[in-house]
Amino acid sequence: MIILKSTIELNNWFIENINEFGENMGFVPTMGALHKGHASLIEKASRECQIVVVSILVNPTQFNEKADLESYPRDLDNDVIVAEKAGATILFTPTPKDIYGGTPYAEPVDYGLITSTFEGLSRQGHFDGVVSVVDKLFLAVKPNRAYFGSKDLQQVAVVEKMSSERHPKIKIVSCDLIRDENGLALSSRNIRLSDAGILVAQNISQELQIVAERVKEGRDVIDSVEIAKQNLKNVEGLELEYISGVNDQTFSISTENRGWSHIIIAARVEGVRLIDNIEL
Ligand code: PAF
Repeated sequence: MIILKSTIELNNWFIENINEFGENMGFVPTMGALHKGHASLIEKASRECQIVVVSILVNPTQFNEKADLESYPRDLDNDVIVAEKAGATILFTPTPKDIYGGTPYAEPVDYGLITSTFEGLSRQGHFDGVVSVVDKLFLAVKPNRAYFGSKDLQQVAVVEKMSSERHPKIKIVSCDLIRDENGLALSSRNIRLSDAGILVAQNISQELQIVAERVKEGRDVIDSVEIAKQNLKNVEGLELEYISGVNDQTFSISTENRGWSHIIIAARVEGVRLIDNIEL
């Protein structure tokens, strides 16, 4: 694996080497602090593509809280080990200034419900930043396929919409959510949880699992979500932001018992914001 620290280094590498790899480049954009979830994206990309570019950029425009940006975990030494072991060809580590061509700024985007509900509502401006950076990274890397984890279910819908409009030739590959042995969805932010916080956070996936089982048994989606909501509100140390059934293509909320594809959730534990979802 080689490490390229700027778009100039990346372009030069492509000019010298691209003929060797033809039309089969996979791209895994990340913000670093790589864990097994990222490794699974890189491994999938390396099974499906001849060359895999992994980018690491803590993108300032997608953080709506300064404290979250400042405390976002950074560990480049470990990232190099994880990316290489998982099969990355290039680790691309540009600065925000390089990618944005100056002071980072994100144009507002409006994709209707998929940018205005749930994560879009709770984290104002978040998807503007995601769209902006992914668009710029796609322009820099020019991949054939780009891999995103489905833990960020709404992000996948937003990126698919952006890519269909601005980069229609890039195939967006949505990859399975990876959990730890106790069910907690893997996230770079989990590192900020204490052991006690991890135990509290496990209630999130446990309740999602119960809702999915109830729905499989034929119980009402809205009622099942309501029961989970009440249970989670009683968990000490857990601050529930939302839990809802949703359609992953439209992010619309059905008023009937059909039209749902997933249950999505956001909650805070020890000040750390966690999201998760389960397919119905
Ligand atoms: O999912 C993430 O880590 C980020 O939102 C992404 C896609 C790398 C854009 O900064």
